[in-house]
Amino acid sequence: MDTSAKIFVAGHHGMVGSSIVRSLQRNGYTNLLLRSSSELDLRDQRSTMDFFADEKPDYVFMAAAKVGGILANKEQQAEFFYDNLAIELHTIHAAHLSGVKKFCFLGSSCIYPKLAPQPIKEDALMTGHLEPTNFGYASAKIAGVKMCEAYHDQYGFSYVALMPCNLYGPGDNFDPRSSHVLPALLRRVIETKERGEETIVLWGTGTPKREFLYVDDVASACLFLMQNEQATGLFNVGMGEDIATKDLLEKICQIVGYQGTIVPDLSKPDGTPRKVLDVSKLQALGWKPTVDLDAGIQLLYAWFLEHRGEFV
Ligand SMILES: NC(=O)c1ccc[n+]([C@@H]2O[C@H](COP(=O)([O-])OP(=O)(O)OC[C@H]3O[C@@H](n4cnc5c(N)ncnc54)[C@H](OP(=O)(O)O)[C@@H]3O)[C@@H](O)[C@H]2O)c1
Repeated sequence: MDTSAKIFVAGHHGMVGSSIVRSLQRNGYTNLLLRSSSELDLRDQRSTMDFFADEKPDYVFMAAAKVGGILANKEQQAEFFYDNLAIELHTIHAAHLSGVKKFCFLGSSCIYPKLAPQPIKEDALMTGHLEPTNFGYASAKIAGVKMCEAYHDQYGFSYVALMPCNLYGPGDNFDPRSSHVLPALLRRVIETKERGEETIVLWGTGTPKREFLYVDDVASACLFLMQNEQATGLFNVGMGEDIATKDLLEKICQIVGYQGTIVPDLSKPDGTPRKVLDVSKLQALGWKPTVDLDAGIQLLYAWFLEHRGEFV
């Protein structure tokens, strides 16, 4: 990927897209094509086709998507399905027609079956039932992966599809109605400390284990795979290790300096006991993450304090 190449980063205002832009700029890429959703709604087929035909980007990083936490996914299955399917359908087809050299698709570990053997390997895709709370989002993302594969097999479309674990970092969503677990817990600890409360509630037993990756590491994985001409197909991206929710909450309390007691609310469900990705395929090519969980939470905490006024 030449540094003068014309690169479209879709979703550049988002957490992942903005990190990809920072990473590209750090690496000397300056010819970036950026459009907000109000300038270019990728659900709109005509506008998307015209944009690709006019601009003819060399490379595409697809970080535009409708994204949300468990609640938002559960309550808006139809919108998560429609928006993501439409975005993928139009961008992949337009990229193929306009001669894009390589396409980076971003999915999520929720594409894998709810009961996939742990750690989850790429070949677990479509071997079992999905987690029902986000089947709309996951089905659309599976369609995106399979569409890239079909265009690759029939037309030689060059692509990589990255399936990251839970991500967190600058630009994260801190809205309690739609945020993911790590930013949600961080905000709750900060506010519990500020209110001077002596206890903080943890949903369930705290034993379920999850995996978290700092967003700049997923951006570096995208760049790494786009720069590697041989790399093609599906790649898991993560730390390759998980942490129990209770340990995560304790870590956050320590970083924020909150010394209250954690009280488990056993009336709340635990969910899947473990979710960790097998990242050996990507690591075998020479990529590895650089930000450990402690350092990443510190960075997110500092970012939240700086941008606090933007959150209600
Ligand atoms: N966050 C995570 O924990 C996580 C984990 C695994 C995978 N991922 C994947 O990473 C990708 C990016 O996620 P994110 O967390 O960065 O999401 P995000 O912060 O919500 O950003 C999504 C971006 O998509 C753009 N977008 C949404 N609808 C659009 C449309 N119709 N047309 C054009 N642009 C549109 C938005 O643009 P505007 O701001 O201009 O409206 C926004 O900048 C997604 O594919 C997601 O599946 C995320």
